[in-house]
Amino acid sequence: MPLICFASPKGGVGKTTLSANVTDLLRRNGRIPLALDLDPQNSLRLHFGMPVTDQAGFCANLQRRPEWRQHLRQAASGTLLLPHGAIELRQSLEHAVALEREPGLLAAPLRDILADPRVVVVADMPPGPSQALAILMPMASLVVTVLQSSAISAAMLNEIEAGRFLGSGTMAALFAGRLQFVLNGVDMNSRLSRGAAEAVARHLGPRLLGAISQDDAVAEALASQRLVHEVAPHSRAAEDMRQVARAIEALLPPLAQDAPTPPPAPPSLAAPWTAPQGGTR
Ligand SMILES: Nc1ncnc2c1ncn2[C@@H]1O[C@H](COP(=O)(O)OP(=O)(O)OP(=O)(O)O)[C@@H](O)[C@H]1O
Ligand SMILES: [Mg+2]
Repeated sequence: MPLICFASPKGGVGKTTLSANVTDLLRRNGRIPLALDLDPQNSLRLHFGMPVTDQAGFCANLQRRPEWRQHLRQAASGTLLLPHGAIELRQSLEHAVALEREPGLLAAPLRDILADPRVVVVADMPPGPSQALAILMPMASLVVTVLQSSAISAAMLNEIEAGRFLGSGTMAALFAGRLQFVLNGVDMNSRLSRGAAEAVARHLGPRLLGAISQDDAVAEALASQRLVHEVAPHSRAAEDMRQVARAIEALLPPLAQDAPTPPPAPPSLAAPWTAPQGGTR
């Protein structure tokens, strides 16, 4: 039922990395996590070991009103994935126009996915404002804003908190008050990074759900197309990500005790793929 969006005012700050890793860490307490890629870069799938050559996906086909279940994949860990799918630039622009004209193209299937109370959807958003974010915001339990631990993030905080990156108008301002934050790439050995992180933490207080260390384990995990807690469970970044997942869990509505036990996903709905070489999960 809950929907969590990972968004950011700036690109390249770790949204996709955190979406993938945190989704998989939410696979506890009877919840079924589903990672939803809404970014035309189509890169969320890579963290779950989906072959680079497999370019199928859900959002890339939205204008054809696809049945979302047919695009559902299942990682070896059990986490579900709706890949974006490969899309050309021109198609991507047409897409944005279509979504503006008819938000239901995305909102309707999402409502259908969220109808299952056990499912927790984590959406990886494109950087900055987007039509997809405008559609998801009113449906989201949490919008987690990822910030880089840099002087520029500290300097831009007021602007970010006011929700400028959510779009313009009253709706964006209304949702700005509900933003939560995660600070990524904190380098405790760098005075600048540490100072910026401390300034951001002081300013945000409890709205800061956690901070993630700059850690080579993150890039290494991606290079092997696996998740950080699988490749380097004792790394600093893995521990930080577990803390963020726990903080997110604490903010989600509790799962009803009488929620039905999930039936095993039929292969036609959630086709698992072969893990890449060396990927024995
Ligand atoms: N904590 C970290 N330590 C080291 N490297 C990291 C960390 N977080 C992210 N990275 C690396 O930074 C790069 C960008 O990360 P990612 O793709 O997750 O960002 P993004 O916000 O999704 O980018 P975009 O806005 O383009 O979608 C990747 O190469 C990733 O491996
Ligand atoms: Mg991304």
